Amino acid sequence: MPLAIQALFVALLFSSIASAAIVEHVFHIKNVLVKPLCKEQMIPAVNGSLPGPTINVREGDTLVVNVINNSTYNITIHWHGVFQLKSSWMDGVNMITQCPIQPSNNFTYRFDITGQEGTLLWHAHVLNLRATLHGALIIRPRSRRPYPFPKPYKEVPLIFGQWWNMDVGLLNIRPAPLSDAYLINGLAGDSYSCSKKRMFKLKVVQGKTYLLRIINAALNSHLFFKIANHNVTVVALDAVYTTPYVSDVMILTPGQTVDALLTADQPSGLYYMAISPYTSAHGQPFPAQVTRGLIIYEDTVKSSSSVMPLMPELNDISTAHRFSSNITALVGGPHWTPVPRHVDEKMFITVGFGLEPCPLGTKCPGYLGQLYAGSLNNRSFMYPESTSLQEAYFYNITGIYTDDFPDQPPLKFDYTDFVMRTESDYKMMFPEKRTSVKTLKFNSTVEIVVQNTGIVTTESHPMHLHGFNFYVLGYGFGNYDPIRHARMLNLLNPQMHNTVGVPPGGWVVLRFIANNPGAWMFHCHMDAHLQYGIGMAFIVQNGETSLLSPPSNLPQCTRDPTIYDSPTAKVDFSY
Ligand code: C2O
Repeated sequence: MPLAIQALFVALLFSSIASAAIVEHVFHIKNVLVKPLCKEQMIPAVNGSLPGPTINVREGDTLVVNVINNSTYNITIHWHGVFQLKSSWMDGVNMITQCPIQPSNNFTYRFDITGQEGTLLWHAHVLNLRATLHGALIIRPRSRRPYPFPKPYKEVPLIFGQWWNMDVGLLNIRPAPLSDAYLINGLAGDSYSCSKKRMFKLKVVQGKTYLLRIINAALNSHLFFKIANHNVTVVALDAVYTTPYVSDVMILTPGQTVDALLTADQPSGLYYMAISPYTSAHGQPFPAQVTRGLIIYEDTVKSSSSVMPLMPELNDISTAHRFSSNITALVGGPHWTPVPRHVDEKMFITVGFGLEPCPLGTKCPGYLGQLYAGSLNNRSFMYPESTSLQEAYFYNITGIYTDDFPDQPPLKFDYTDFVMRTESDYKMMFPEKRTSVKTLKFNSTVEIVVQNTGIVTTESHPMHLHGFNFYVLGYGFGNYDPIRHARMLNLLNPQMHNTVGVPPGGWVVLRFIANNPGAWMFHCHMDAHLQYGIGMAFIVQNGETSLLSPPSNLPQCTRDPTIYDSPTAKVDFSY
């Protein structure tokens, strides 16, 4: 390397080191009373607010969050979408990377945020507690590096939540009860009684451009988002830059984020922004609740009436599919890397519902008189109960999990048009309850075809991978055809995600490089479906980097862990 370039290199290295900061937060979790609708409700909250505090960092910073648990629940906090390079003990997944932080205890998460920027979220990763324990995690470029799009006048986090008029502890029933409202930044807005005045309002200045940092923190709902009379330009999804994509509607699965530019280019006035659920499941009794916020132009006259956007239908699959599958990556943009062409591990994973035998002596109103369940490759995931998966792996403790998650479903069948005909079809409907993992060699490239099944019913499943972003090489409907569809995969500019909705009755093809040792979950980000067992875990072996010893103060499981501080009543529903 010529000397001048070497010097420049050193200078660059220096400036980036000099700019890295340590960002510290204290998350004080306790039960507080809130009243988004007509009824006061006690919820666990971080620092007394719903949503919780927004964390702002720059790429390269170290984030330190001291979680003090003064609530009545066992808690972990997960940093959704953060790579956790060399810090998998900080992933915050209950019984996967740690035992929970018990009431009156605390734990400090500490990790570097490198190689990614955009909008992510943090949330509790103990069952349904994510409903009220969540917030934004915003990663801006290192100092002086501009965004790869025009500088916005202001940045506005928009956090979508889902609200129940009941104790969050009681949400731990199967299936989760229907929610009573959706919230924008904690506010239900004027379409619900008792919250008319509590609506999210955004004042805008004519001609200015705003960066909306949109997060779907809802527990169980995909959400459409629209702003009356305005288009937005999407510039990032899941904290990965996209080619600019102009749209009048957005859809976010639970766990997904969208960064979009909104220009106040309409005549002065009042314009609603609105969210409404998207449900692809057939016949599910889903209320079409619409939650609104308001955009107020600076010089709007008082008497103006507000314009409402026309929301997509509850089951508008084509709008959802168009938005999800049309956006491409910003090739050559910050942190962009080309798709690896060589694949080491090929997996075909079926995702869908199934049944669990109805306990003797009880009546289950589900399909065929059974309980509902869910699975990946016919394995219904069970969390370990006495030791976290990663500790079991690290300390070689046997009996916690089995290293035998299959690369293929046990049976090939017409996945999307499942009709039960034979006894083996019937067996297929009852997945095995297991804690099984798939071990990956360090740096191997993994390709997964995720095939949605029609067992019991079809529904979009937002599959979320911990620790890695994956390329989404293709989306489609029907059964994946390894010859015809493989030719159509996008290897040039596919968007990367940490969460992707597998189309109802369809498939996606994902690829990622397993370059980070540790135990990483891959699961449906609809909380209710995770409880059905739609999950599994990868264990990435050591290579150039190794899984270090756990921090000495990592929470310990008690001998009789109360993982769930809530009744475990099982209620079922019929379609
Ligand atoms: Cu956002 Cu496993 O979670």
